[in-house]
Amino acid sequence: MKEPETITKTIAFVKETLKEAEGGHDWFHIQRVYKNAKQIAKDEDVDSLVVSLGALLHDIADAKFHDGDESVGPDIAQAFLKSIAVDDKTITHVVNIINNISFKNSLSKDGKTKFKSKELQIIQDADRLDALGAIGVARAFNYGGFKNRELYNPDIAPNLNMTKEEYKKSKAPTINHFYEKLLLLKDKMNTPMGTKMAEERHDFMLNYLEQFYREWNGES
Ligand code: ADP
Ligand code: NI
Repeated sequence: MKEPETITKTIAFVKETLKEAEGGHDWFHIQRVYKNAKQIAKDEDVDSLVVSLGALLHDIADAKFHDGDESVGPDIAQAFLKSIAVDDKTITHVVNIINNISFKNSLSKDGKTKFKSKELQIIQDADRLDALGAIGVARAFNYGGFKNRELYNPDIAPNLNMTKEEYKKSKAPTINHFYEKLLLLKDKMNTPMGTKMAEERHDFMLNYLEQFYREWNGES
């Protein structure tokens, strides 16, 4: 099967599978990550099919919705790619990407990186970019609203020392998420193009925060 046909079929599969997904990880998130990934890949010497399939399938089954079972996503992706006769080497690479996309999964118990490829780095950058900029602001407040969190509370300072579990349970206001996570992302990007895009979105968020405080204080 030719690359465009494989991608068209994968897009249809992902759209159908994510029909009921929550707003932060719906088809439009995938579409944005896919576009970001293609933009970054233009500057890199990589396997474009792996980049496309990895981006399209990276959130195919978020472990959050499968009792934390992290093998569901890679299994679904593998079965689907086999069903449309993608070659084994490509399937293995895409499955490795899905398994390693989150930072937590990319480290083994001794802290060493388990799997690394340029294609994975590109998709990781593309996914992080969707947490930044205007979209990042929208997603953060959408998440905060879903969790019934305050927008901002000047008496609750950001805390950069929470474990992942503490972070999930925290009732901290959404503005704190910018300092605890989002403003740290630009220094974690893997590729030059990803870094450049992240810097623009980072600056937008700094401007956004300045305006937020001006309005909060009745200064504008
Ligand atoms: P991913 O699936 O990419 O690992 P998450 O599920 O952690 O990301 O987050 C999805 C979106 O929700 C991101 O845009 C992220 O910034 C936002 N988000 C996650 N945790 C919080 C939080 N505590 N407050 C506000 N937004 C959050
Ligand atoms: Ni994602």
